[in-house]
Amino acid sequence: MDFKNILVERDADIAIVIIDRPKKLNALNRSTISELHHAFAQLENDKHIRVIILTGSGEKAFVAGADISEFAGFSQAQGEQLSSEGQQLLFNFVENLSTPVIAAINGFALGGGLELALSCHFRIASDNAKLGLPEVSLGVIPGYGGTQRLPQLAGRGKAMEMIMTGAMIDAAEAERHHLVNHVVAPEKLMELSMKIARRIANNSPVAISYAIKAVNAGFKNNVLGFATEIESFGACFGTEDFKEGTTAFLEKRKAKFTGTR
Ligand code: COA
Repeated sequence: MDFKNILVERDADIAIVIIDRPKKLNALNRSTISELHHAFAQLENDKHIRVIILTGSGEKAFVAGADISEFAGFSQAQGEQLSSEGQQLLFNFVENLSTPVIAAINGFALGGGLELALSCHFRIASDNAKLGLPEVSLGVIPGYGGTQRLPQLAGRGKAMEMIMTGAMIDAAEAERHHLVNHVVAPEKLMELSMKIARRIANNSPVAISYAIKAVNAGFKNNVLGFATEIESFGACFGTEDFKEGTTAFLEKRKAKFTGTR
């Protein structure tokens, strides 16, 4: 498959997947999600690949979120479908891969971008990274697993604060709250990611795949949480607040929310 929105590079038994829409800060539109799904599926089936590193193109962003221009006019049903399809094709898919996936966060990881990083098995950030779930500023909630995976890492209180304020945190704060494992200078991000990937690649891929399965199994009792997220994400699309939030973003102005459902 030819990819238009992503690049896949290989360095011996390590693959580097780069989301490549720098002019849109690597925002996730539908075709990027589909391409990522296919790339991850191919790499999972390639027995020569032991580790995958996921990063963003350019110096500014890992991923600045789901592509707002694509979903701004969606109905409630389309919103719900967007969330459930995305979770299935990419976010849950990545989490459940038996090949380890490391997110190398090289800038903004916002909304769906942070949710994608949270779906990876662990995260390394450059010291200029900014992480956040700004969805409520658009009149919607995180819909790609953020309401479930952020509390798992950061704890419920910090996750609630981040989701309710929609504010960004810097890399040092993200490290303090266990969102990322290491913070390094931007020029060292790939070096450290590769170093850790090579160390993983020396170990038994079979044992690692069982370890991923076992670690993930401990978090599988939140099926209801994910389902509620999908339903609530869809419900937001039927509100005046959502129309105002997304229109304001696209018109580059501050939203004025009335609280109208
Ligand atoms: N969806 C669609 N387009 C996006 C986007 C997104 N999530 N994030 C950024 N872009 C686009 C911008 O619209 C702009 O496009 P344009 O040049 O055609 O106008 C381009 O990427 C560059 O972004 P810009 O806003 O000009 O950069 P900035 O440095 O001023 O601000 C951010 C950076 C990340 C703070 C800002 O882009 C932003 O708030 N993005 C949205 C974040 C968000 O709410 N994500 C959650 C979505 S659910």
